[in-house]
Amino acid sequence: MKLDIAVLPGDGIGPEVTAQAVKVLKAIAMEFNHIFTFKKALVGAAAIDQTGSPLPEETIEICKKADAVLFGAIGNPKYDDPDIKIRPEQGLLGIRKELGLHTNIRPVIAYEDLLNKSSLKIKQIKDTNIVIYRELTGGIYFGKRHLSEDGNTASDICEYNRFEIERIAHAAFKAAESRKRKLTLVDKANVLESSRLWRRVVNEIAPQYPNVKLRRIYIDNAAMELIINPRQFDVILTENMFGDILSEEASVIVGSIGLLASASIGDKHVMFEPIHGAYTKAANKGIANPIASILSAAMLLDHFGLDEEANRVRDGVDKSLKLHITTPDLNTKYDNISTTKVGDFIEDFINNPDETNLNFTNIHLGQSTII
Ligand code: IPM
Ligand code: MN
Repeated sequence: MKLDIAVLPGDGIGPEVTAQAVKVLKAIAMEFNHIFTFKKALVGAAAIDQTGSPLPEETIEICKKADAVLFGAIGNPKYDDPDIKIRPEQGLLGIRKELGLHTNIRPVIAYEDLLNKSSLKIKQIKDTNIVIYRELTGGIYFGKRHLSEDGNTASDICEYNRFEIERIAHAAFKAAESRKRKLTLVDKANVLESSRLWRRVVNEIAPQYPNVKLRRIYIDNAAMELIINPRQFDVILTENMFGDILSEEASVIVGSIGLLASASIGDKHVMFEPIHGAYTKAANKGIANPIASILSAAMLLDHFGLDEEANRVRDGVDKSLKLHITTPDLNTKYDNISTTKVGDFIEDFINNPDETNLNFTNIHLGQSTII
């Protein structure tokens, strides 16, 4: 298969983690005889610094021409001042809107080998396997904003229409059909009119999916239930901001936010992005966890039906976790495993999936006994 992939490394740890995902995709292309080309483009603070805009026209062009976009991370504390008008985040929101990426899919899987890394109790989180369907181009993120002349009053409108809700609801119901057939709609319908519309529309669609058990819960309750008993969830469907918050909360179950990948799907375009931010403090230290970016690349392969390839990547990730070839956020065994080393390990696994555990560990710890 030939795939042209636009790469938007962005800010902070974005470039380092994205480089590992690209490395992994190149290894897959070699191993499985595909042709993947990569074209880099500027976004976020890096783009502001070089062009004055967080989303230059050229970047939009490159993304629109590509078959898929691989996104790194965005943000820089130097733009945190609330009075600043141009922000890195506008780059990410802009690209989501420009490409029409309405459906954001965020899997949350508790890895057996990482259960003790979570701050939650093992018995609570074991076997968690959730996928969050987060609406990505509507709601309060994209509603009208207002700041009064005197600067003392501000508002952000949360607006949704039936079409936007139906589109992601169908995708979420279909996902539930192919999983444990449980769909939980998370909203705040006891207070918000927009949430009541979500409920109405989702209720109307539900009879088309008779095998899926639909449950509706409020966001405040969902935030608690997700931590107390995450296993009760299969597919979670929710609007933009609730999905943002819930998915970051869910990373506590998995042990590190550096593990959560996502796919952002539109009618014409697709983008794959870790859910974590730019983590500027960790940039260029070799400590950023590249797994979220690498698993986002696996979701890219899934999207194009390259199942064996995607599974090879995921097996490589599993193996790295099993053998403690992980960055310091997860590693209590070795203290010298860098971002690049994790990428190298997974690349190597892709080329040699049958290599023994022992050899792998030794080679990658620089303790090869082969003289
Ligand atoms: C995410 C991020 C973004 C969001 C930010 C960087 C704009 O937190 O992808 O979850 O809020 O959507
Ligand atoms: Mn977020």
